[in-house]
Amino acid sequence: MEDKKTIFSGIQPSGCVTIGNYLGALRSWKELQNDYNCYFCVVDLHAITVKQTPQELRKRCVELYAQYIACGLDPEKNVMFFQSHVPAHSELSWLLTCNTYMGEMSRMTQFKEKSKKAGANVGLGLLSYPVLMAADILLYNTDLVPVGADQKQHLELARDLAIRFNNAYSPTFTVPEPYIQKNGARIMSLQDPLSKMSKSSENVNAFVSILNEPDVVMKKFARAVTDSDNQIRHDIVNKPGITNLIEIYSACTGKNIEQIEKDFEFKGYGDFKKAVGEAVVETIKPIQDNFKHIMQDKAYMEKCFTIGAEKASYTANKTLAKVQRKMGLASKKL
Ligand code: TYM
Repeated sequence: MEDKKTIFSGIQPSGCVTIGNYLGALRSWKELQNDYNCYFCVVDLHAITVKQTPQELRKRCVELYAQYIACGLDPEKNVMFFQSHVPAHSELSWLLTCNTYMGEMSRMTQFKEKSKKAGANVGLGLLSYPVLMAADILLYNTDLVPVGADQKQHLELARDLAIRFNNAYSPTFTVPEPYIQKNGARIMSLQDPLSKMSKSSENVNAFVSILNEPDVVMKKFARAVTDSDNQIRHDIVNKPGITNLIEIYSACTGKNIEQIEKDFEFKGYGDFKKAVGEAVVETIKPIQDNFKHIMQDKAYMEKCFTIGAEKASYTANKTLAKVQRKMGLASKKL
Protein backbone atom coordinates (compact mmCIF):
# COMPACT_ATOMS: atom_id res chain seq x y z
CA MET A 1 0.00 0.00 0.00
CA GLU A 2 2.80 2.41 0.91
CA ASP A 3 4.57 2.03 -2.47
CA LYS A 4 1.49 2.84 -4.46
CA LYS A 5 0.74 6.31 -5.77
CA THR A 6 -2.13 8.19 -4.16
CA ILE A 7 -5.47 9.16 -5.65
CA PHE A 8 -8.03 11.56 -4.22
CA SER A 9 -11.45 12.35 -5.67
CA GLY A 10 -14.93 13.34 -4.57
CA ILE A 11 -18.48 14.10 -5.61
CA GLN A 12 -20.78 16.72 -4.12
CA PRO A 13 -24.01 15.44 -2.56
CA SER A 14 -25.85 18.28 -4.28
CA GLY A 15 -28.28 16.10 -6.25
CA CYS A 16 -28.50 12.60 -7.65
CA VAL A 17 -25.45 10.98 -9.22
CA THR A 18 -25.83 11.41 -12.98
CA ILE A 19 -24.50 9.23 -15.77
CA GLY A 20 -22.13 12.20 -16.32
CA ASN A 21 -20.65 11.71 -12.84
CA TYR A 22 -20.53 7.98 -13.40
CA LEU A 23 -19.02 7.89 -16.89
CA GLY A 24 -16.75 10.90 -16.27
CA ALA A 25 -15.42 9.96 -12.84
CA LEU A 26 -16.81 7.15 -10.69
CA ARG A 27 -16.32 4.45 -13.28
CA SER A 28 -12.61 5.18 -13.56
CA TRP A 29 -12.22 5.19 -9.77
CA LYS A 30 -13.42 1.60 -9.73
CA GLU A 31 -10.67 0.61 -12.14
CA LEU A 32 -7.97 2.61 -10.37
CA GLN A 33 -8.70 1.27 -6.88
CA ASN A 34 -6.62 -1.85 -7.46
CA ASP A 35 -3.42 -0.05 -8.36
CA TYR A 36 -3.51 3.08 -6.21
CA ASN A 37 -3.81 4.12 -2.63
CA CYS A 38 -7.26 5.76 -2.93
CA TYR A 39 -9.20 8.36 -0.96
CA PHE A 40 -12.82 8.71 -2.08
CA CYS A 41 -14.70 11.45 -0.32
CA VAL A 42 -18.32 12.62 -0.19
CA VAL A 43 -17.62 16.35 -0.29
CA ASP A 44 -20.53 17.66 1.78
CA LEU A 45 -18.77 20.95 2.64
CA HIS A 46 -18.75 21.74 -1.06
CA ALA A 47 -22.49 21.15 -1.36
CA ILE A 48 -23.30 23.95 1.10
CA THR A 49 -21.81 26.61 -1.19
CA VAL A 50 -25.40 26.83 -2.46
CA LYS A 51 -28.52 26.73 -0.29
CA GLN A 52 -29.55 23.25 0.84
CA THR A 53 -32.43 21.81 2.84
CA PRO A 54 -30.61 20.23 5.82
CA GLN A 55 -32.67 17.02 6.05
CA GLU A 56 -32.36 16.42 2.32
CA LEU A 57 -28.63 17.08 2.28
CA ARG A 58 -28.05 14.66 5.17
CA LYS A 59 -30.04 11.99 3.33
CA ARG A 60 -28.18 12.60 0.07
CA CYS A 61 -24.83 12.25 1.87
CA VAL A 62 -25.64 8.70 2.99
CA GLU A 63 -27.13 7.81 -0.38
CA LEU A 64 -24.04 9.05 -2.18
CA TYR A 65 -21.80 7.01 0.10
CA ALA A 66 -23.99 3.97 -0.67
CA GLN A 67 -23.73 4.72 -4.40
CA TYR A 68 -19.93 4.76 -4.15
CA ILE A 69 -20.10 1.22 -2.76
CA ALA A 70 -22.82 0.21 -5.23
CA CYS A 71 -20.62 1.33 -8.12
CA GLY A 72 -17.95 -1.11 -6.98
CA LEU A 73 -15.72 0.92 -4.67
CA ASP A 74 -14.52 -1.24 -1.84
CA PRO A 75 -14.49 0.51 1.58
CA GLU A 76 -11.97 -2.02 2.85
CA LYS A 77 -9.53 -1.34 0.06
CA ASN A 78 -9.98 2.44 -0.12
CA VAL A 79 -10.31 5.24 2.40
CA MET A 80 -13.96 6.32 1.97
CA PHE A 81 -15.33 9.10 4.15
CA PHE A 82 -17.35 12.29 4.54
CA GLN A 83 -15.39 15.52 4.11
CA SER A 84 -16.99 17.18 7.17
CA HIS A 85 -15.85 14.27 9.39
CA VAL A 86 -12.24 15.35 8.84
CA PRO A 87 -11.95 18.95 10.11
CA ALA A 88 -8.46 19.30 8.59
CA HIS A 89 -10.15 20.00 5.22
CA SER A 90 -11.71 23.24 6.50
CA GLU A 91 -8.55 24.21 8.36
CA LEU A 92 -6.16 23.75 5.46
CA SER A 93 -8.64 25.54 3.25
CA TRP A 94 -8.23 28.69 5.39
CA LEU A 95 -4.44 28.45 5.40
CA LEU A 96 -4.42 28.13 1.61
CA THR A 97 -6.96 30.95 1.26
CA CYS A 98 -4.35 33.24 2.81
CA ASN A 99 -1.99 32.27 -0.03
CA THR A 100 -4.55 32.77 -2.82
CA TYR A 101 -5.23 35.86 -4.95
CA MET A 102 -8.67 37.32 -5.61
CA GLY A 103 -7.87 37.56 -9.32
CA GLU A 104 -7.23 33.86 -9.77
CA MET A 105 -10.49 33.00 -8.01
CA SER A 106 -12.76 35.38 -9.89
CA ARG A 107 -11.41 34.05 -13.20
CA MET A 108 -12.74 30.54 -12.53
CA THR A 109 -15.25 29.58 -15.24
CA GLN A 110 -17.51 27.67 -12.89
CA PHE A 111 -17.67 30.62 -10.48
CA LYS A 112 -18.58 32.96 -13.32
CA GLU A 113 -21.39 30.65 -14.48
CA LYS A 114 -22.78 29.89 -11.03
CA SER A 115 -22.58 33.46 -9.81
CA LYS A 116 -24.58 34.62 -12.83
CA LYS A 117 -27.37 32.31 -11.71
CA ALA A 118 -27.09 33.42 -8.07
CA GLY A 119 -27.77 37.06 -9.02
CA ALA A 120 -27.00 39.93 -6.61
CA ASN A 121 -26.16 37.87 -3.50
CA VAL A 122 -23.35 35.60 -4.61
CA GLY A 123 -22.14 33.54 -1.66
CA LEU A 124 -18.45 33.86 -0.75
CA GLY A 125 -18.30 30.05 -0.63
CA LEU A 126 -18.90 29.90 -4.38
CA LEU A 127 -15.83 32.04 -4.93
CA SER A 128 -13.53 30.23 -2.50
CA TYR A 129 -14.79 26.71 -3.30
CA PRO A 130 -11.75 25.74 -5.44
CA VAL A 131 -9.44 26.49 -2.49
CA LEU A 132 -11.35 23.95 -0.39
CA MET A 133 -10.98 21.52 -3.29
CA ALA A 134 -7.23 22.19 -3.35
CA ALA A 135 -7.12 21.50 0.40
CA ASP A 136 -8.95 18.18 -0.12
CA ILE A 137 -6.34 17.10 -2.62
CA LEU A 138 -3.18 18.47 -0.99
CA LEU A 139 -3.87 17.02 2.47
CA TYR A 140 -3.17 13.51 1.22
CA ASN A 141 -0.01 14.03 -0.88
CA THR A 142 -2.17 13.14 -3.86
CA ASP A 143 -0.43 12.21 -7.11
CA LEU A 144 -3.48 11.79 -9.32
CA VAL A 145 -7.01 13.22 -9.35
CA PRO A 146 -9.52 11.35 -11.55
CA VAL A 147 -12.21 13.85 -12.60
CA GLY A 148 -14.35 14.91 -15.55
CA ALA A 149 -13.10 17.62 -17.91
CA ASP A 150 -15.10 20.35 -16.10
CA GLN A 151 -12.75 20.14 -13.09
CA LYS A 152 -9.54 20.78 -15.03
CA GLN A 153 -9.33 24.46 -14.13
CA HIS A 154 -9.84 23.72 -10.43
CA LEU A 155 -7.07 21.16 -10.63
CA GLU A 156 -4.76 23.75 -12.11
CA LEU A 157 -5.42 26.01 -9.16
CA ALA A 158 -4.58 23.15 -6.75
CA ARG A 159 -1.29 22.70 -8.61
CA ASP A 160 -0.54 26.45 -8.54
CA LEU A 161 -1.24 26.66 -4.81
CA ALA A 162 0.96 23.64 -4.09
CA ILE A 163 3.87 25.06 -6.11
CA ARG A 164 3.44 28.52 -4.58
CA PHE A 165 3.47 27.12 -1.04
CA ASN A 166 6.46 24.87 -1.71
CA ASN A 167 8.41 27.84 -3.10
CA ALA A 168 7.39 30.28 -0.36
CA TYR A 169 8.13 27.95 2.58
CA SER A 170 9.81 24.65 1.68
CA PRO A 171 8.77 21.49 -0.20
CA THR A 172 5.56 20.36 1.51
CA PHE A 173 2.90 19.37 -0.97
CA THR A 174 2.95 16.83 -3.77
CA VAL A 175 1.90 18.62 -6.98
CA PRO A 176 -1.13 16.65 -8.24
CA GLU A 177 -1.87 15.67 -11.82
CA PRO A 178 -5.37 15.48 -13.31
CA TYR A 179 -6.53 12.13 -14.65
CA ILE A 180 -9.18 12.77 -17.29
CA GLN A 181 -10.43 9.86 -19.38
CA LYS A 182 -10.85 10.20 -23.13
CA ASN A 183 -14.22 8.52 -23.17
CA GLY A 184 -17.08 10.12 -21.20
CA ALA A 185 -15.12 13.04 -19.72
CA ARG A 186 -17.79 15.52 -20.74
CA ILE A 187 -21.36 14.23 -20.97
CA MET A 188 -23.73 16.95 -22.09
CA SER A 189 -27.30 17.81 -21.07
CA LEU A 190 -29.98 15.84 -22.94
CA GLN A 191 -32.04 19.01 -23.31
CA ASP A 192 -29.25 21.48 -24.11
CA PRO A 193 -26.31 19.62 -25.62
CA LEU A 194 -24.16 22.75 -25.45
CA SER A 195 -24.04 22.65 -21.63
CA LYS A 196 -22.76 19.84 -19.47
CA MET A 197 -25.11 17.37 -17.84
CA SER A 198 -25.52 18.57 -14.27
CA LYS A 199 -27.13 16.96 -11.23
CA SER A 200 -28.44 20.36 -10.09
CA SER A 201 -30.26 21.07 -13.35
CA GLU A 202 -33.86 22.26 -12.87
CA ASN A 203 -35.12 20.28 -15.86
CA VAL A 204 -35.21 16.59 -14.85
CA ASN A 205 -35.20 15.56 -18.53
CA ALA A 206 -31.74 17.13 -18.91
CA PHE A 207 -29.98 14.45 -16.87
CA VAL A 208 -30.19 10.74 -16.16
CA SER A 209 -29.58 9.59 -12.61
CA ILE A 210 -27.86 6.27 -12.11
CA LEU A 211 -30.86 5.40 -9.93
CA ASN A 212 -33.52 6.21 -12.54
CA GLU A 213 -35.91 3.36 -13.34
CA PRO A 214 -35.55 1.80 -16.85
CA ASP A 215 -38.77 3.36 -18.22
CA VAL A 216 -37.68 6.80 -16.99
CA VAL A 217 -34.28 6.38 -18.67
CA MET A 218 -35.88 5.30 -21.94
CA LYS A 219 -38.26 8.29 -21.89
CA LYS A 220 -35.45 10.76 -21.20
CA PHE A 221 -33.45 9.48 -24.16
CA ALA A 222 -36.55 9.43 -26.40
CA ARG A 223 -36.99 13.14 -25.58
CA ALA A 224 -33.30 14.05 -26.00
CA VAL A 225 -32.75 17.15 -28.14
CA THR A 226 -31.09 16.33 -31.49
CA ASP A 227 -31.35 17.90 -34.98
CA SER A 228 -33.43 17.20 -38.03
CA ASP A 229 -31.13 15.55 -40.58
CA ASN A 230 -31.63 12.03 -39.19
CA GLN A 231 -27.98 10.96 -39.67
CA ILE A 232 -26.09 9.29 -36.86
CA ARG A 233 -22.76 11.06 -37.26
CA HIS A 234 -20.21 12.40 -34.75
CA ASP A 235 -19.95 16.14 -35.44
CA ILE A 236 -19.54 18.25 -32.34
CA VAL A 237 -20.04 21.59 -34.11
CA ASN A 238 -23.08 20.86 -36.23
CA LYS A 239 -24.65 17.93 -34.39
CA PRO A 240 -23.95 18.34 -30.65
CA GLY A 241 -27.04 16.38 -29.53
CA ILE A 242 -26.35 13.26 -31.61
CA THR A 243 -22.63 13.54 -30.86
CA ASN A 244 -23.42 13.45 -27.14
CA LEU A 245 -25.64 10.38 -27.58
CA ILE A 246 -22.89 8.66 -29.59
CA GLU A 247 -20.41 9.39 -26.80
CA ILE A 248 -22.75 8.05 -24.12
CA TYR A 249 -23.35 4.94 -26.20
CA SER A 250 -19.62 4.50 -26.76
CA ALA A 251 -18.83 4.93 -23.06
CA CYS A 252 -21.48 2.36 -22.08
CA THR A 253 -20.75 -0.27 -24.72
CA GLY A 254 -17.02 0.20 -25.29
CA LYS A 255 -17.63 0.50 -29.06
CA ASN A 256 -15.66 3.16 -30.89
CA ILE A 257 -17.22 6.08 -32.78
CA GLU A 258 -16.57 4.73 -36.30
CA GLN A 259 -18.10 1.40 -35.41
CA ILE A 260 -21.20 3.07 -34.00
CA GLU A 261 -21.63 5.27 -37.09
CA LYS A 262 -21.35 2.18 -39.26
CA ASP A 263 -23.76 0.10 -37.17
CA PHE A 264 -26.41 2.82 -37.34
CA GLU A 265 -25.75 4.03 -40.88
CA PHE A 266 -29.19 3.02 -42.14
CA LYS A 267 -31.10 3.60 -38.91
CA GLY A 268 -33.07 6.65 -37.76
CA TYR A 269 -32.86 8.70 -34.55
CA GLY A 270 -35.73 6.77 -32.95
CA ASP A 271 -33.84 3.48 -33.18
CA PHE A 272 -30.60 5.02 -32.05
CA LYS A 273 -32.14 6.75 -29.02
CA LYS A 274 -33.69 3.43 -28.03
CA ALA A 275 -30.31 1.69 -28.33
CA VAL A 276 -28.60 4.36 -26.23
CA GLY A 277 -31.33 4.14 -23.57
CA GLU A 278 -30.98 0.36 -23.43
CA ALA A 279 -27.18 0.56 -23.16
CA VAL A 280 -27.51 2.99 -20.24
CA VAL A 281 -30.16 0.84 -18.52
CA GLU A 282 -27.88 -2.15 -18.79
CA THR A 283 -24.93 -0.19 -17.39
CA ILE A 284 -26.78 1.12 -14.34
CA LYS A 285 -28.94 -1.91 -13.52
CA PRO A 286 -26.30 -3.72 -11.40
CA ILE A 287 -25.57 -0.48 -9.52
CA GLN A 288 -29.25 -0.10 -8.66
CA ASP A 289 -29.45 -3.67 -7.36
CA ASN A 290 -26.38 -3.15 -5.19
CA PHE A 291 -27.66 0.20 -3.96
CA LYS A 292 -30.93 -1.26 -2.63
CA HIS A 293 -29.00 -3.92 -0.81
CA ILE A 294 -26.45 -1.55 0.77
CA MET A 295 -29.05 0.97 1.90
CA GLN A 296 -30.54 -1.77 4.08
CA ASP A 297 -27.29 -2.18 5.98
CA LYS A 298 -26.77 1.15 7.71
CA ALA A 299 -24.58 -0.45 10.41
CA TYR A 300 -22.11 -1.59 7.75
CA MET A 301 -21.96 1.86 6.16
CA GLU A 302 -21.50 3.53 9.54
CA LYS A 303 -18.61 1.24 10.30
CA CYS A 304 -17.04 1.97 6.91
CA PHE A 305 -17.27 5.75 7.06
CA THR A 306 -16.12 5.88 10.69
CA ILE A 307 -12.99 3.87 9.87
CA GLY A 308 -12.59 5.92 6.68
CA ALA A 309 -12.61 9.21 8.62
CA GLU A 310 -10.10 7.85 11.15
CA LYS A 311 -7.67 6.78 8.46
CA ALA A 312 -8.12 10.02 6.49
CA SER A 313 -7.64 12.13 9.65
CA TYR A 314 -4.36 10.42 10.42
CA THR A 315 -2.74 11.50 7.13
CA ALA A 316 -4.58 14.83 6.90
CA ASN A 317 -3.58 15.93 10.41
CA LYS A 318 0.07 15.20 9.71
CA THR A 319 0.01 17.44 6.62
CA LEU A 320 -1.96 20.12 8.43
CA ALA A 321 0.49 20.22 11.36
CA LYS A 322 3.38 20.65 8.93
CA VAL A 323 1.66 23.55 7.18
CA GLN A 324 0.73 25.25 10.47
CA ARG A 325 4.33 25.02 11.66
CA LYS A 326 5.79 26.31 8.41
CA MET A 327 3.39 29.26 8.39
CA GLY A 328 4.44 30.21 11.93
CA LEU A 329 1.23 29.50 13.84
CA ALA A 330 1.54 29.20 17.65
CA SER A 331 3.25 26.02 18.89
CA LYS A 332 1.42 23.75 21.32
CA LYS A 333 4.66 23.16 23.29
CA LEU A 334 7.28 25.72 24.22
P1 TYM B 1 -19.15 17.25 -9.04
O1 TYM B 1 -19.84 16.78 -7.82
O2 TYM B 1 -19.79 18.36 -9.82
O3 TYM B 1 -18.91 16.06 -10.04
C1 TYM B 1 -18.30 14.86 -9.60
C2 TYM B 1 -17.42 14.29 -10.69
O4 TYM B 1 -18.18 14.06 -11.88
C3 TYM B 1 -17.59 14.73 -12.98
N1 TYM B 1 -18.67 15.23 -13.83
C4 TYM B 1 -18.80 14.94 -15.13
N2 TYM B 1 -18.05 14.19 -15.96
C5 TYM B 1 -18.47 14.07 -17.24
N3 TYM B 1 -19.58 14.69 -17.72
C6 TYM B 1 -20.35 15.46 -16.92
N4 TYM B 1 -21.45 16.05 -17.39
C7 TYM B 1 -19.96 15.61 -15.56
N5 TYM B 1 -20.49 16.29 -14.51
C8 TYM B 1 -19.68 16.05 -13.48
C9 TYM B 1 -16.80 15.87 -12.36
O5 TYM B 1 -15.77 16.31 -13.21
C10 TYM B 1 -16.29 15.24 -11.09
O6 TYM B 1 -15.14 14.51 -11.35
N6 TYM B 1 -15.51 20.11 -7.26
C11 TYM B 1 -15.91 18.76 -7.52
C12 TYM B 1 -15.89 17.87 -6.30
C13 TYM B 1 -14.62 17.89 -5.54
C14 TYM B 1 -13.42 17.22 -5.90
C15 TYM B 1 -12.50 17.52 -4.85
C16 TYM B 1 -13.06 16.43 -6.99
C17 TYM B 1 -14.40 18.51 -4.37
N7 TYM B 1 -13.12 18.29 -3.93
C18 TYM B 1 -11.20 17.02 -4.89
C19 TYM B 1 -11.75 15.94 -7.02
C20 TYM B 1 -10.83 16.24 -5.98
C21 TYM B 1 -17.31 18.76 -8.08
O7 TYM B 1 -18.07 19.68 -7.88
O8 TYM B 1 -17.65 17.64 -8.71
